[in-house]
Amino acid sequence: MNFSLSEQLYKELINNNFEPAVKQEDADVIIINACSVRQHAEDKVFQRINYFKNLKKQKNLKLIVTGCFAQNQKDNADADVVLGTYHINEIPDLLLNEVDNKVDTEMNKYVFMEPVPEPGYEFRSMVDITVGCDNFCTYCIVPYVRGRQISRKSKDIIDSIKKLVDNGVVEVTLLGQNVNSYGLDSNDIPFSELLRLINDKTDIKRIKFLTSHPKDFTDDIIDAVFTLNKVSKYIHLPVQSGSNKILKAMNRKYTIEHYFEIIDKIRSYKQEFAISTDLLIGFPGETEKDFMETIEVVKKVEYDEAYMFKYSPRPHTAAEKFKESLSEQEKKERLNYLIDVQKNIEKKNITKHLNKKRTVLIEGVSKKSDKEFIGKDELNKTVVVGTKADVGKFYNVTINNYKGVTLLGELN
Ligand code: 5AD
Ligand code: SF4
Repeated sequence: MNFSLSEQLYKELINNNFEPAVKQEDADVIIINACSVRQHAEDKVFQRINYFKNLKKQKNLKLIVTGCFAQNQKDNADADVVLGTYHINEIPDLLLNEVDNKVDTEMNKYVFMEPVPEPGYEFRSMVDITVGCDNFCTYCIVPYVRGRQISRKSKDIIDSIKKLVDNGVVEVTLLGQNVNSYGLDSNDIPFSELLRLINDKTDIKRIKFLTSHPKDFTDDIIDAVFTLNKVSKYIHLPVQSGSNKILKAMNRKYTIEHYFEIIDKIRSYKQEFAISTDLLIGFPGETEKDFMETIEVVKKVEYDEAYMFKYSPRPHTAAEKFKESLSEQEKKERLNYLIDVQKNIEKKNITKHLNKKRTVLIEGVSKKSDKEFIGKDELNKTVVVGTKADVGKFYNVTINNYKGVTLLGELN
């Protein structure tokens, strides 16, 4: 979400004749758009702010802090301008009007900025379809710093995607904290219908979406994923924990049995797909048994990818008041164990891609050799091809080898 908003802001600034500095030390204005979801992320932002505060002693520099970090830390963020999540779009005007000092974290009226072709990857774009979240998972700060869910109008989304296509975009990633609950706040069409509309009524070539919540991952969505030809067969479905006790304490509103019903349903389409997840380790009350239940789920699902985090208490959240049952060291040990299990699964499963025919969108030249091109297939797997290929174009590729967890392929 922050990446997406940063790109939209960047484009707005360029449209207003601002120029990107070559080096950050040369800049007249520094804008930090940062995250507050985990403590670790916030710690890093404070370090960055300190760095720029020192730089300010040597030269004239305006420091602007925004994003959910700014929303959460408005009293501690030591910057000239501090803008909460509802105000990032005001930055170009603030600069044009030479406003030197301002703090605004009101959450009154949310204005969606236009999605833009990604700078440096102009063939793709992230399209925010919702902001905020109504789920109140007990560990999560998002509903407090991004506010309640607001869905962008489906008509506006379709119009934006058509414009992106006219500008050469071939792939969109629909973004939201919980894209499956799209439209519920505004009585707009449901998410599956939105997918269908984008698939049928625009000339976009590939559609991805992030993030899905298991409690709202209904059959119509699974059906849309596997019947709409442009939709990537890649599902990011955070499970967080394998223990029903912990899921309940997290207020996730599903059981692990329900999660497996979703996985079974996905498998019942008998098509290739990839699945990834988020896992939150060391939630208050997580026993060795709960943790091992998480490990069992990871082994059973065999995720293609997993984003694994150590729990850190966040302000405003319900879990902030829960008594932590594990030391940092214990959390770290569990996390490392989990990472190991997941790595082994990824290693083991890489061979299942061999000899498969895939459609790869070339995203750039490989860092290692200018004769190798790197892209993503319809399962969101990274594929390297050793023949000259055009960035931003789709190619039919046969996977013939792998290196680590990267697939190697040849153009058909
Ligand atoms: N501590 C650690 N990880 C968290 N996440 C959300 N809140 C916390 C927290 N307090 C993780 C969840 C979520 C991902 C975006 O960040 O796994 O899915
Ligand atoms: Fe946070 Fe839960 Fe909302 Fe995701 S669904 S943003 S984890 S509150």
